[in-house]
Amino acid sequence: MKALIIYWSGTGNTQKVAETIDNTLKNSGVDSVLKPVKEAGDEDLYDYDLVFIGSPSFMWQPPEPVMRYIKDKMNHYRERDYVKLSSPKVPGKYGVVFATYSGPHTGVNEAIPVGKYIGQFLEHLGFDIVGEWYYVGEFHGSEENSTKGRLGDIRGRPNQQDLDKLAGDVKKVLEKISG
Ligand SMILES: Cc1cc2nc3c(=O)[nH]c(=O)nc-3n(C[C@H](O)[C@H](O)[C@H](O)COP(=O)(O)O)c2cc1C
Repeated sequence: MKALIIYWSGTGNTQKVAETIDNTLKNSGVDSVLKPVKEAGDEDLYDYDLVFIGSPSFMWQPPEPVMRYIKDKMNHYRERDYVKLSSPKVPGKYGVVFATYSGPHTGVNEAIPVGKYIGQFLEHLGFDIVGEWYYVGEFHGSEENSTKGRLGDIRGRPNQQDLDKLAGDVKKVLEKISG
């Protein structure tokens, strides 16, 4: 099985999640490739059985480099007629979306639009979405947002406990898609 993990990370939280996914896949015998979004432009997602795309939430949206990647890639696949009406599933192609967020105002609701947006990209390409994951991340540079928001004190997150849970989530996905 081949897997690709694409991510963008400004302050390291999403990168930690992406690296944990990559390590867990490799330890499970999966041929996994980890790429920051700026190096992923030439990757053909259909070369992989399992594609992960991850992003932080900035004002409830993916940040600009992630938006640009998705728009450019959508155009690329649309021009080649991969984007079909009714979005039929392409056999053997699976996707997982992950988002990190601090949720100072409304909690996970601040990240769900990010997961849905990225998920729509993969679903339009015919990937079966087998995971939509949200991880709390410290708001680096803002103690107020990291201690006084809806989620309380989130300094140090994602922490080891979060990453251990994530490793379990990755293994469950592998079990699910390998039947
Ligand atoms: C410019 C900016 C805007 C942000 N906006 C939100 C937001 O609207 N909601 C939220 O939950 N977190 C917000 N965050 C917090 C980040 O989503 C969170 O810390 C994330 O884990 C950062 O990931 P990274 O370290 O991979 O960049 C924002 C962070 C920055 C820097």
